[in-house]
Amino acid sequence: MLAELFAAAAHGCRDRSPLTQRLLADAADDLSRGGVTARIMAGAERDREGSVPGLRFAGAVHRLVLEGRAPALAKHYPSVGGQPDLPRLWEDALPALNEYTALLRHRIGATVVQTNEPGRCAPLYGGLLVAAQEAAKAAGRQVPFCVRLLEVGASGGLNLRPHHVAYRLDDGTTLGDPGSTLVLDPEWTGRPPADLTHRLRVVGRAGCDLQPVDVSTEDGRLHLSSFVWADQLNRWNRLRDALDLAAADPVKVDRAAGPEWLAKHLARAERDVLTVVWHSVVWQYVSPADRAMGRAVLADAAAKATPTTPLALLVFEPRREIDYRFALMLKIWPAGISLCLGVGVGHGIPFTWDVTPWE
Ligand SMILES: C[S@@+](CC[C@H](N)C(=O)[O-])C[C@H]1O[C@@H](n2cnc3c(N)ncnc32)[C@H](O)[C@@H]1O
Repeated sequence: MLAELFAAAAHGCRDRSPLTQRLLADAADDLSRGGVTARIMAGAERDREGSVPGLRFAGAVHRLVLEGRAPALAKHYPSVGGQPDLPRLWEDALPALNEYTALLRHRIGATVVQTNEPGRCAPLYGGLLVAAQEAAKAAGRQVPFCVRLLEVGASGGLNLRPHHVAYRLDDGTTLGDPGSTLVLDPEWTGRPPADLTHRLRVVGRAGCDLQPVDVSTEDGRLHLSSFVWADQLNRWNRLRDALDLAAADPVKVDRAAGPEWLAKHLARAERDVLTVVWHSVVWQYVSPADRAMGRAVLADAAAKATPTTPLALLVFEPRREIDYRFALMLKIWPAGISLCLGVGVGHGIPFTWDVTPWE
């Protein structure tokens, strides 16, 4: 079973990260043979598919490389200046896997996948512009609402400053903050259904996570870095820039489960502000109990939303109906708006804007 999950995770990296694909494919074979990978993964045999054990393994191995504990393997990792030589990857991985079996087992057991991907700011920014403007229109206002952003499953909080990012469009215009240290090329097909000349005004932001990552520490930065596929240098550089931006504009992520935390924050409605509940690539990790409770908390707040204290839900999550591609979906209360705004890849870039009803 675990070997199958590793093989599926390897397949998920195809065309995008040959290094991770090869590591996971070799590890899947090793698991089937009962090799060192089986000892590393001992105790994780019954993990849910949604917890993606293969990506936890790849992240823990990458972390060994980043810590300088796996010199033979580091030669293959572009994140530390290496060059992949895929046919030799596994034999160069084995010394580190054997030496650090217990450490890897401990880390893989203690962590969840925490790819805190700043590229997701691009669909988030477009979605927030749409939400602020649509909520205003529905309330008969000329000026878009200011936004209070509440992120569930925020990890290190790297997506809590979408208004401080520069979004460089292919027609030469830049949205957001043109002076930002984090510059994204969103690779949009189409545009958000909004007036892009309006700036997004964020008047409050907060995030929670069951296992928040403190990006002000070396340990936190290493943890997030380990989940970036090491041969995707664009994403590697993007994460460095996002960490710099976070250092200049810190936001603490609260240690809390989504439903309780949301209930507390939604109890206080702010007049003339659109409250937006946001989550990206979180739902698959949430327990059934928290899913049910989260839905109930949101339904309760939605029933209390008014034209002067509107509420929105904005999510970027994979959808089974579209072959697990990632959809950006928006609901606004009391306006009764429910839209799928478009579809993209998991890391947020590229993205195609295409509005359809969200049933
Ligand atoms: C793959 S990360 C995504 C991080 C971030 N949303 C992003 O898009 O970059 C998923 C996160 O969801 C968090 N998580 C899972 N269940 C949760 C819950 N019930 N409440 C709060 N956070 C949760 C995990 O701890 C993890 O940090």
